[in-house]
Amino acid sequence: MRKKIVAGNWKMNKTFLEAEELVAQVAEALESRKMENKTVVLCPPFPYLELATDIAEEANFSVGAQNVYPEDSGAFTGEVSPSMLVSMEVEYCIIGHSERRKYFGESHEFLTRKLDALLKHNIIPIFCCGEVLPERKAKKHFKVVEKQLDESLFHLKKDEIAMVVIAYEPVWAIGTGVNATPQQAQEMHAFIRSLIAKKYSQKLADEIPILYGGSCNSKNAKELFSNPDVDGGLIGGASLKAEDFIGIVDSF
Ligand code: PGA
Repeated sequence: MRKKIVAGNWKMNKTFLEAEELVAQVAEALESRKMENKTVVLCPPFPYLELATDIAEEANFSVGAQNVYPEDSGAFTGEVSPSMLVSMEVEYCIIGHSERRKYFGESHEFLTRKLDALLKHNIIPIFCCGEVLPERKAKKHFKVVEKQLDESLFHLKKDEIAMVVIAYEPVWAIGTGVNATPQQAQEMHAFIRSLIAKKYSQKLADEIPILYGGSCNSKNAKELFSNPDVDGGLIGGASLKAEDFIGIVDSF
């Protein structure tokens, strides 16, 4: 059975005190919940990672970073390395998010380097893919996602890709309040799984968690997550309030 994952991508939000409060609220809510076969991942901004890693184990959640630089150390002002993340007990890292592709010009070559660097350090990559609205309208969404996987993910060996979590995030759904319909999510997730089966094996395809992201909230999560190929969500806006986020965690 595949692991169910709900990951909160806080993006560039919260002051230190607000972050402290949110981590504490999520921790308190998770205390009373059974988390068998469910993983909650909090991905706060870098300066707040320690707030989360400090209590992660007892609080029943894991911690992820939102970014990484693909070198171990050196003269890369402002960047954070995978070994730094490991030393802080960060277990996951988001890469390939459409905001980083768009605002920071991250190419597929760069994403490939990041993936390799994370896997070398046993950090679980949450690899994002997804089409923009004109591509969806032109019915090119399957081709676009296939290309993203081909270019940045499918160079991995079997034992490497087995560690990866994929997040399908249609760009037109991110932060817009317009989520993909459960049918749109299911057909893309099933398509991604079929690509993994073709490239690697059916067994591997059956094991890799594929999350949905894009305006997922406590109201629509249940229907989205009820699809056989949707294994959870990567949550932006709705991860910034404990009540909303926990509502999504409870949607399985
Ligand atoms: P959203 O963002 O939930 O605010 O749409 C999702 C994401 O960007 O990961």
